[in-house]
Amino acid sequence: MFYTKKNLQINNFDTKKFNFLKLVKEHLKKNLNCDQITDFHNYIPEDKMPKDIYEGTAHTYGHDLLYAIDPIFKQAKIIKASNIGFIELYKKFIKYLSEEIFKADLIFQKKPSLRIQYPNYTSYGKFHRDSDYNHPEEEINIWLPITKTRNTASMFIESEVGKKDFKPMNLDFGQYLIFNSELMHGNKVNEEKYTRLSMDFRVMFKADYKKFTKSSATQNIKFQIGEYYDTL
Ligand SMILES: [Fe+2]
Repeated sequence: MFYTKKNLQINNFDTKKFNFLKLVKEHLKKNLNCDQITDFHNYIPEDKMPKDIYEGTAHTYGHDLLYAIDPIFKQAKIIKASNIGFIELYKKFIKYLSEEIFKADLIFQKKPSLRIQYPNYTSYGKFHRDSDYNHPEEEINIWLPITKTRNTASMFIESEVGKKDFKPMNLDFGQYLIFNSELMHGNKVNEEKYTRLSMDFRVMFKADYKKFTKSSATQNIKFQIGEYYDTL
């Protein structure tokens, strides 16, 4: 049976097998003595908070701390990078997606994106389609919450391309969303009084991959295997 593309599909995964939450907790506890990851904002010095509530959270001090979870990410060296198998686990998850969900060979975003949405900030406020940033339309987006995601502390997305009926994806750790990359999505100002953490990444059927020569608009790397993408 082959996977047929749907606009929005929410799946559950085995949290014991893919315990991303445990690794994030371990990393933030060890380095910041942060006990509750939903209180992450309390561990960021005032002057290191984003300057702009709409755009300022794309990459900030808090991201530098979070991306120190694995040496694969570019390190700002504020804290020492943890080596606790985060990317190894991510690759295991890709293998699961390839074998159990898509039942096809995949290429995937080499370094997943980690998102932070502090209370009273957006994560990325501009509503967009990933193709607005040169992403190939062949990509399939995966969004995986680390904390729960609720209402304004979530991602808003339309249900069909062009419908603009934006609704928040209210999910818990243990669920993930597969979504059509042509759907418009974005974030609002978080009024929920906790920090939302999530990760997202893109996969593509190997059969759909042709050498995409355009570069990412946000990172100066090409949409090619060995640059933006990796294979198992
Ligand atoms: Fe996006």
